[in-house]
Amino acid sequence: MPVWFSPGRVNLIGEHTDYNGGRVLPIAMDLGTTFQVDLIRDASLRICSQRYDEQVVLPLEGPYRARGHWQDYFAGVLHALAAAPSTGLSITVSSNLPQGGGLSSSASLTMGFAMLLNEAWELGKSRLELAHVAQRAENELVGVDCGILDPFAVAMGRSGQAIALDCRSFRWHYVEFPEGHEVVVINSLVKRELTDSEYNTRRQECARAVELINHERSIQCLGDLAAMDLDTISSLNGNPVALRRARHVVEENARVDRAVSALQSGDMGAFGEELLASHASLARDYQVSCAELDFLVETASGQPGVCGAKMTGGGFGGCVVAVARTDAVAPLVEELGARYDSRFGIQAHFHSCRPGDGVKRLQ
Ligand code: GLA
Repeated sequence: MPVWFSPGRVNLIGEHTDYNGGRVLPIAMDLGTTFQVDLIRDASLRICSQRYDEQVVLPLEGPYRARGHWQDYFAGVLHALAAAPSTGLSITVSSNLPQGGGLSSSASLTMGFAMLLNEAWELGKSRLELAHVAQRAENELVGVDCGILDPFAVAMGRSGQAIALDCRSFRWHYVEFPEGHEVVVINSLVKRELTDSEYNTRRQECARAVELINHERSIQCLGDLAAMDLDTISSLNGNPVALRRARHVVEENARVDRAVSALQSGDMGAFGEELLASHASLARDYQVSCAELDFLVETASGQPGVCGAKMTGGGFGGCVVAVARTDAVAPLVEELGARYDSRFGIQAHFHSCRPGDGVKRLQ
């Protein structure tokens, strides 16, 4: 009986740049989704979710429709894959990722499912092709307009390495994550209720900025602009929202490049500075943070041995990522946990890890 593990992801820096043809620096983590797969004789897929304590049965061939139910993630993959199925499967799914915590529990699910189907039905698709399938599953059937960041990180993660990806060219390379440091994920436990609607609004605002810029300069996406270009574009002057969104994306791309260089040269102080600047820009210009995330970032970054911190993922709640020396993690958890509790009356959840592998078959 094959067993697959599909991780969640933490984006270290490069937030809200993926759908703007920009750059990102995620890792795959050690929490994720596990799939136990059995071949069955029926021409169907039986999917049992331990989280929901519920089983659904999907036909092997479509058309598939959205039903506003967790099965949509699976139906979305089947829809985007449009494969010729060779056998029925029974799949039991369990996860230790917090749902709606900004660690991409959804891409963990869709990417893991796509990978196991690829093997069971001998489809011969590459990990990159399957990452696009997982993205389309969410875009076309679940109805979330997310970018490639999450499925890519889940597909391509590698132990001990971060992934520097250019979402325009799809060129990527691995960057060693230094020994003696950990990625600390802090779940604010603030529910990201606005995420889907505000996320789609941000995408529209960026598209509007591109439209305005095109009155003066021919670009396809905000990722085409260099930082200094922005000051010379007068068509954004009358539109402060478009200007702020564009400024975040353009400057965030430059921050990713500097963060990658800092990581490569082991300058964790410089790396942490880029994380903090990223968070400030996400709060001020992109306006996707909230009081709880700001507090966690500010307090974490003042603790000894912490290089830097920022929100991770879509925002409006969810998680903060801090990068810290291994020996600083336990005191950070204690101090930050206590301060957050006394300020907001919430006991944040902490999880510390190093970069892990992408989706893999365990047995
Ligand atoms: C969510 C989306 C990603 C990306 C991030 C923000 O996680 O799924 O595609 O846009 O937000 O960086």
